[in-house]
Amino acid sequence: MLPFLLLAVGMGWTWEDLQVTGHLDKSGICYCSVNVPDTTSLADRIEIIEESNYNLNLSYYQEITKLQLYQRNVDVHIENMKNLTKRVEIMEMGGITYRELDFELIKTEITQMEAIMVELQSSLSGSNDKVETLYAEVRNISVMVNQLEKFDKNNVLRVRKKILSLQKRLEECSCEHGGLLNVSKPLVVQLNPRGSSYKAGGWGKDSLFGSTENTYWVAMLELNSNHYFSSVRLYTTYEDLLLYKKYQDKSVSSSGAGAGMILYNNSLYYNCYNSRDICKLNMGTNKIERRTLPKAGISNRFSYSTSQNQDIDMAGDEQGLWVIYATEDTQGCIVIGKVNATTLELIKTWNTTIYKPGVSNAFMVCGIMYATRLINARQEEIFYMYDTNTNKGKRLSIFMDKMAENFQSLSYNPNDHKLYVISEAYEIEYTLSFKPFSKD
Ligand SMILES: *[C@@H]1O[C@H](CO)[C@@H](O)[C@H](O)[C@H]1NC(C)=O
Ligand SMILES: *[C@@H]1O[C@H](CO)[C@@H](O)[C@H](O)[C@H]1NC(C)=O
Ligand SMILES: *[C@@H]1O[C@H](CO)[C@@H](O)[C@H](O)[C@H]1NC(C)=O
Ligand SMILES: *[C@@H]1O[C@H](CO)[C@@H](O)[C@H](O)[C@H]1NC(C)=O
Ligand SMILES: *[C@@H]1O[C@H](CO)[C@@H](O)[C@H](O)[C@H]1NC(C)=O
Ligand SMILES: *[C@@H]1O[C@H](CO)[C@@H](O)[C@H](O)[C@H]1NC(C)=O
Ligand SMILES: *[C@@H]1O[C@H](CO)[C@@H](O)[C@H](O)[C@H]1NC(C)=O
Repeated sequence: MLPFLLLAVGMGWTWEDLQVTGHLDKSGICYCSVNVPDTTSLADRIEIIEESNYNLNLSYYQEITKLQLYQRNVDVHIENMKNLTKRVEIMEMGGITYRELDFELIKTEITQMEAIMVELQSSLSGSNDKVETLYAEVRNISVMVNQLEKFDKNNVLRVRKKILSLQKRLEECSCEHGGLLNVSKPLVVQLNPRGSSYKAGGWGKDSLFGSTENTYWVAMLELNSNHYFSSVRLYTTYEDLLLYKKYQDKSVSSSGAGAGMILYNNSLYYNCYNSRDICKLNMGTNKIERRTLPKAGISNRFSYSTSQNQDIDMAGDEQGLWVIYATEDTQGCIVIGKVNATTLELIKTWNTTIYKPGVSNAFMVCGIMYATRLINARQEEIFYMYDTNTNKGKRLSIFMDKMAENFQSLSYNPNDHKLYVISEAYEIEYTLSFKPFSKD
């Protein structure tokens, strides 16, 4: 019995698999009967299990392989989706990087153009077909941009091109007049904020053509004989200027020479003290950049007749940023320089035959320099012009009434067609009017 049992257990059978019963006979011999399970069916079962295990293993591996295949497909799909998304984005941008900012910029540009158009219509005597057409187009594009922003962002680039061409035409249109016709009577705005002892300085609004900035600036020369300024005062509205309140003073480190400074595109451009450098003080960042104006006479060598140390006079008009100065080479005659407002480099210069210390001041309008001279205590005369578009200079005579003896500074603003003057401590405005366009 025992060997069998050991055998049975050795075969992997457990006690439960074996049905063991036993009894004793009359002679005391023990009989034991064991019901061994059917070994053939067991073998079959093992085979079945092995087979199904094999099949299971097979289908498991098949499933794994399938899954791996799916995974690869999914990866490819994801890549495709990413690619598609990217392509759609690029399409939406019209090839350029589209941002909300682009629309903001476009809208600002349109607002600026509209503002100029309104000014233009009022300053040009009589109606002008070109101006009217342009105005209609500007309004059209304004409507278009609003629709575009809602429905169709693909056309940003096309709109930008259109706006650039409109701006170019607006610039030409703004200068499509027969030149200066007359100057209004003076409007005395007020005494400068530092008081009547501060006689010389400059003031005005941002001279960048198209600027919608309403900031007014005033910079007065200090009270000594060096004719320099060391700060500029900013007012965000005309009312604040008139009330002398809510201003911001920006210090001009290392100082500026004379009253030839202007605010242009939110930077103050001026002659850095005791140098032949044009300086640019950014009102946003307070950063100063400078570049030498080659050969410029400085430190009162070639200033104007009624203001000191204004050897380098900055100007802004419809065509950009200018500098009016003189050199030893031109023997003190006015040189007009077109200035790159970003790099401060001279783009081009024009020589005139007008001796700079002989004129009382000068300003630019549409690329034409106008020079003034003192007639008497009541009148100034615009007596000479030089057109950088045609390289021609000529005499003219337009009188300007005055409230006080001398002009210490004079600059034109292309956005409101006004002259901003400081005369004996007072801030004064004149409005210009232009002749109708003629082809002579
Ligand atoms: C399961 O199948 C794989 C691939 O066919 C094989 O490599 C592996 O040895 C199998 N495993 C068993 C326990 O049969
Ligand atoms: C999208 O796929 C195309 C072709 O499959 C390829 O030429 C293009 O460079 C891909 N674009 C990106 C943004 O991945
Ligand atoms: C303004 O837009 C309308 C409709 O698109 C067009 O018919 C019209 O000619 C446009 N006007 C100008 C001045 O471009
Ligand atoms: C020019 O303007 C002044 C001042 O407003 C005026 O007195 C004068 O009549 C005007 N001259 C011309 C030619 O329009
Ligand atoms: C004005 O200044 C800003 C930043 O300082 C510059 O991006 C922009 O091009 C300038 N505009 C002109 C017309 O110079
Ligand atoms: C201006 O005159 C100076 C001196 O004669 C000369 O060197 C310079 O080339 C002239 N510039 C122009 C633009 O004609
Ligand atoms: C100013 O200089 C910059 C940099 O060289 C140039 O990109 C830009 O076109 C120039 N602007 C003008 C008006 O010449």
